[in-house]
Amino acid sequence: MKKIKLNQNIEVSNIIQGTMNFNRQSFTPKDVMEMIVHRLDHGVSTFDTAQIYGSGDNEVLMGEALRLNPSLKGKTQWISKTGIILPKDQFSIAHYDTRANSIIAACEQSLEKLGLDSLDVFLIHREDPLIGHEEVAYALDECMKRGYIKSYGVSNFDPHKFDALQHFTKQPLITNQIEFSINCFEHIDNGNFDYLQKQHVHPLIWSPLAQGRVFNSQDPKYQALKNTLENLAVKYNTTSATIALSFILHHPIQAIPIIGTTQNHRFESLLESINITLEHEDWYRIYTAHPSRRLR
Ligand SMILES: NC(=O)c1ccc[n+]([C@@H]2O[C@H](COP(=O)([O-])OP(=O)(O)OC[C@H]3O[C@@H](n4cnc5c(N)ncnc54)[C@H](OP(=O)(O)O)[C@@H]3O)[C@@H](O)[C@H]2O)c1
Repeated sequence: MKKIKLNQNIEVSNIIQGTMNFNRQSFTPKDVMEMIVHRLDHGVSTFDTAQIYGSGDNEVLMGEALRLNPSLKGKTQWISKTGIILPKDQFSIAHYDTRANSIIAACEQSLEKLGLDSLDVFLIHREDPLIGHEEVAYALDECMKRGYIKSYGVSNFDPHKFDALQHFTKQPLITNQIEFSINCFEHIDNGNFDYLQKQHVHPLIWSPLAQGRVFNSQDPKYQALKNTLENLAVKYNTTSATIALSFILHHPIQAIPIIGTTQNHRFESLLESINITLEHEDWYRIYTAHPSRRLR
């Protein structure tokens, strides 16, 4: 599988494996270790996690898996995120925390849990209404200076907030992790895709399959979209989900989908998307089959 360079030093696989759903199954560290080996065998070497996944337990599980087979550390790239605090222990409400000490401490905790010396990419998870851009930039640069991280970026930031933070950081923000799928066009509509292309930034895409909601939906509003995907699946000799991933890969922005499936057979079938080149008109067949879309 081809690698995509996020900057001169950091490259990730063209498809990334997300780890948000790992706590929903009763995976053992051995299960996870075998899944990492399976993904690597198929060319997917980059893994996305976050401080809050599994209320903090997912990074522990991933770390236990890596400790079972430490050679995997040198073959994989790891992305983590901080900034969302769930109601747990001493915190009574969910909130954001992008204060410098919290960012640096969260980075240290993620490294400790994962058992890594450094993260390849470290992201601020969400737009924080209380963000102090200069303070966040200081914290990210401090994590770099201490060798905790090799690069940094953001997630779910609009162009104004991306620009404001980048104004203060010593390095360019390496990516913006945002939602895009056959069911989510927010960042096409709000100008983020245009802004990121101007910045030469490849976005990482979360929920690229809309969490399976469209394929499994009985809602009549999705019927046209489901039919279109099914017809194209026949035309390209694949599945609706694979066509949905090809829809993302077709975009000139060279987005990098983070897939969430924990099932090997689904994962393998989704990899077919890399070898599918959707015809230009077929991309628009999918786009215009969504109930919210019309060509102006
Ligand atoms: N930055 C952020 O704010 C943010 C937000 C959300 C997620 N993320 C990241 O993005 C990753 C992916 O997100 P996601 O899990 O929402 O992505 P997704 O790939 O759109 O959804 C995966 C989910 O859809 C289910 N699914 C049902 N039918 C499917 C089908 N036909 N093909 C594939 N999957 C199907 C999967 O179940 P099975 O496991 O049973 O296949 C799984 O639960 C996360 O793991 C996380 O790393 C980031």
